[in-house]
This record gives sequence, C-alpha cells and structure tokens, in this order.
Amino acid sequence: MIKTEDINFYYGDFQAIKNISMEIEPNTVTAFIGPSGCGKSTFLRLFNRMNDLIDGTRLTGNFIIDGQNIYDKSVQVDELRKNIGMVFQKPNPFPKSIFENVAYGLRVNGNNNKKFLEERVEEALKSTALWDEVKDKLKKSAFELSGGQQQRLCIARALAVSPSILLMDEPTSALDPISTSKIEELIFKLKQDYTIVIVTHNMQQAARISDKTGFFMLGELVEYADTKKLFTNPAKTETQNYITGRFG
Ligand SMILES: Nc1ncnc2c1ncn2[C@@H]1O[C@H](COP(=O)(O)OP(=O)(O)OP(=O)(O)O)[C@@H](O)[C@H]1O
Ligand SMILES: [Mg+2]
Repeated sequence: MIKTEDINFYYGDFQAIKNISMEIEPNTVTAFIGPSGCGKSTFLRLFNRMNDLIDGTRLTGNFIIDGQNIYDKSVQVDELRKNIGMVFQKPNPFPKSIFENVAYGLRVNGNNNKKFLEERVEEALKSTALWDEVKDKLKKSAFELSGGQQQRLCIARALAVSPSILLMDEPTSALDPISTSKIEELIFKLKQDYTIVIVTHNMQQAARISDKTGFFMLGELVEYADTKKLFTNPAKTETQNYITGRFG
C-alpha cells in the first residue's frame, strides 16, 4: 500500500511537484499521464528516492509505503530500493552477459550459489517471456539482443530480486508495436505479484493496461480516478481537453 500526503518537491527554487496526495492499492497498475515537463518522472522517482541523487532538491509531506514514511531518517535507502524495482525509457542492460544481467542484483545481495542463481535467472526470464528466446545464449552479451528483448531483460533484472513495487518510466516508448504489446501483456500478468506504476505518453496504453490513472499538469495531480472513468467521463475540464487532444 502506497500513500502520499501533501507531497511538495523542489529542484532548488523550482517547485516541480505541488501538494500531491494519492493512494495506490497493492497488485494494481497505476498510469501517470500528462504533458511533457508536468512532473511525472519526478514524482515516480520519489517512490525509490532516486531524486536524492540530485543536489539541491527538497521534499515536504509524507511518502508512506507499507506504513513507513520512506523519507524518515531511519530508512535505509539501499533496502528501500531492493523492494522497488525500476525500468527506464531506454533499455539499459549492463555490459555483461544475459545471465549476469539478471543475476546482478542477486550477486550484489550476496547470493553466489550457482544453482540458486540459475533457478532465479530462469524464473525471472520466464516471467518476462524471454526465456525461450535466450535460453541457448545466456552467456552472450546482452547487447546482442533486440531493443524489445533488452527491455524485457531489464524488467527481468528488476524482478530477479523480488521487489514488491515496479516503477516504469515510459518503458515502451523506444520500442516497436510488437515489442510494446509483449510488454503490455507482461505488465498485465505481473500485477498479480507486483504493484506497478507506469509513466506513459501513450493514452491508449494507459487505457489498456492500468486500473487507475493520474493526470498531471504543471506539477499538480489534476485528476486521479479509475482508468475507465478518467477516459470516458473525466471530472475536470483539463483532463477532458488533454485526453481528447485539445491541449497544447
Ligand atoms: N534534475 C533536474 N533539475 C532541475 N529541474 C528538473 C530536473 N529534472 C526535471 N526538472 C524539471 O522539473 C519539471 C518536471 O520534469 P519531469 O522530468 O518530471 O517531467 P515529465 O512529466 O516526466 O516530462 P516528460 O513527459 O517530458 O518526460 C520540468 O519543468 C523539468 O524541467
Ligand atoms: Mg519523464
């Protein structure tokens, strides 16, 4: 369960996130949509404290995951990030073999048992529907895979360490339609085991795969509702204008 209360976030003097309160239920897919620069990626990066890496940033409000404010001093950021996987717009495999990409996080966590790693790598690659395509070339470089395969590998890498939340920032924007639909099917399947939050510029995609959608504009969460409702009967004029393409 994720709950944000009055979240404000600043890059220096610039306020990128304004007073956002929302709740996300476990085992759901939540999509964030909105025009470029409205704060979707910034907000997503607050979930695993990735913005901590940027100098001069500041946050107010409560960001609660499973009952704990993740910005409390006592929180260990490494532990937090183990529980929250992230996948980016451009596939970013490590310059390692297919196997070692997926095993990476497990090794970092101190697991080096060969049999254990083999089992977990196979499981993660199966869950991203990549196993059959790569099982005979696990020792080959990840860069030999196609873009869509690389993205599924990155998802497998994120899943291998068994997070409970998976964050995805425009994970299909660099992919062709077939790879995109594979990833959409995958997201639909993964929500049985994970809570997924996805940023997308593709409104059809949000409508197809998400349970709830948040529409952002200028750092505010303008509307947050069941996806069906948001796309068929939005409460706000701004949402209506955006989803019908009358915006910008
Ligand atoms: N590292 C940074 N330092 C300063 N300002 C930033 C930084 N990253 C983002 N911003 C600003 O914060 C605002 C929100 O940016 P963000 O990347 O979250 O938007 P977005 O909704 O993800 O846009 P897009 O759809 O183009 O990816 C923008 O005005 C952007 O210029
Ligand atoms: Mg973005």
